[in-house]
Amino acid sequence: MYWNQLSFLLLRHECQFHNKEFYYYPWMVMDSPASPEINDYIQSRLQCLIEGTKHESPLAVPDHPPPWLDQDQFLRGRALFYEYKMGILMSSFRSLVVGLSIPNLAIPLCLTKRSSTPAKAFKRYLHTGGMVEEIYKIIPWESTHVLDTINRYHRLAAQKIRAMSKEQRDTLALLQFQDLPQHPYALSSTDRGLLEVLQTMDYPSTHLGRELFREYRHTHVVFSDTDMALVHLAFFATFVQHPISYGGGGIGEQDLDAFLHYWRVIGYYLGVKDDLNLAGGGSQSELCAVWRALSKQLLYPYLQILDGVSLKMVKALTTANDLNLGLIMFSSMEVNGNELSELWNKFPVHTKFLYYWRRFFMECLYRTRYFRITINWLLSTVTTRLLEKLGPYSPLETDV
Ligand code: HEM
Repeated sequence: MYWNQLSFLLLRHECQFHNKEFYYYPWMVMDSPASPEINDYIQSRLQCLIEGTKHESPLAVPDHPPPWLDQDQFLRGRALFYEYKMGILMSSFRSLVVGLSIPNLAIPLCLTKRSSTPAKAFKRYLHTGGMVEEIYKIIPWESTHVLDTINRYHRLAAQKIRAMSKEQRDTLALLQFQDLPQHPYALSSTDRGLLEVLQTMDYPSTHLGRELFREYRHTHVVFSDTDMALVHLAFFATFVQHPISYGGGGIGEQDLDAFLHYWRVIGYYLGVKDDLNLAGGGSQSELCAVWRALSKQLLYPYLQILDGVSLKMVKALTTANDLNLGLIMFSSMEVNGNELSELWNKFPVHTKFLYYWRRFFMECLYRTRYFRITINWLLSTVTTRLLEKLGPYSPLETDV
């Protein structure tokens, strides 16, 4: 009990310290009322996302570079990856875990059966990490080969899943788990605590936000333009919003701008439409405001009803990597300025220790250049070895 209170006091203290740091990143100021211009900007982007729920993404590489391409910015953004590789991959991975709470994203992934058990999820996401590294190696206006492959994976899965009705997809996805051993999906007491806290979570919602949630939840379109825009976000938004948490405390605003441009270009080549491409089309502060609005208006309502296929897919992925789901959700919310203090109180001591250890590791140790270089090198070496050991893998033989 005593430790509980002490560590929570410490946490609150740290959050205040965090808030001070937000002022070094003006776009990070939390919960201050948005200006009418920013509000208008948020509304216009949400409106595009509502429209995007009704349209299938083409899932194809355009045959010409985007008119807004800035090659120097692209290369500068790409260089950031090599400097902060582990931090960037960690931030994307965390966003992908949280993103599985959205059934529109979890169900197609479940239906391809590539990540619905912990063993498969481990292999799939290790391979994804490897492919993301490959993306960073190419210059898309010279060669799009990795992007062609990813688009092909998407088209193949989409072709089969789009042939089913929404009801068929939902039923088939749930059935996948029926004959599997249930213990990897069993909820721990912290998981149950997490679900309770999420259900009672309070957040502001707007008229347009509710419309977006409603349209997105009920759309029959799979691999929609909005699906693409949301998955795309996972690869850059968390890192840009809170680089400090991923060892990037010293990164300047211009480098983050370049990183955004990098992902704007990659999104373009993966078929993300310009008006739904949330890595561009506005200043960094405008974009951050839209991402935060999306968390509150779209993600949080899904977290409140987290269940069924989404919950199983999230559990498969966290069990595969021996990750603490409660801690992942807590940290993701914290970055958005939403402290789940009730959840923190439910954490056992070792989870709190893990939280501080992760922060110390990322915010202090990984921030040090030579340490970062060593860890990045270690990560690449271990990933390559593991991929070799796990043997060939091709999602193209998808068995939907
Ligand atoms: C711009 C957004 C996206 C990016 C950057 C992206 C990235 C990737 C990458 C790197 C792979 C290869 C993974 C591997 O090695 O197996 C992949 C495969 C795949 N992605 Fe995406 N993806 C995006 C959007 C989506 C969306 C919206 C969906 C559907 C909800 C989706 C579903 C899949 C599926 C089904 C596969 C094949 C592997 C499997 O079945 O798990 N992706 N994607």
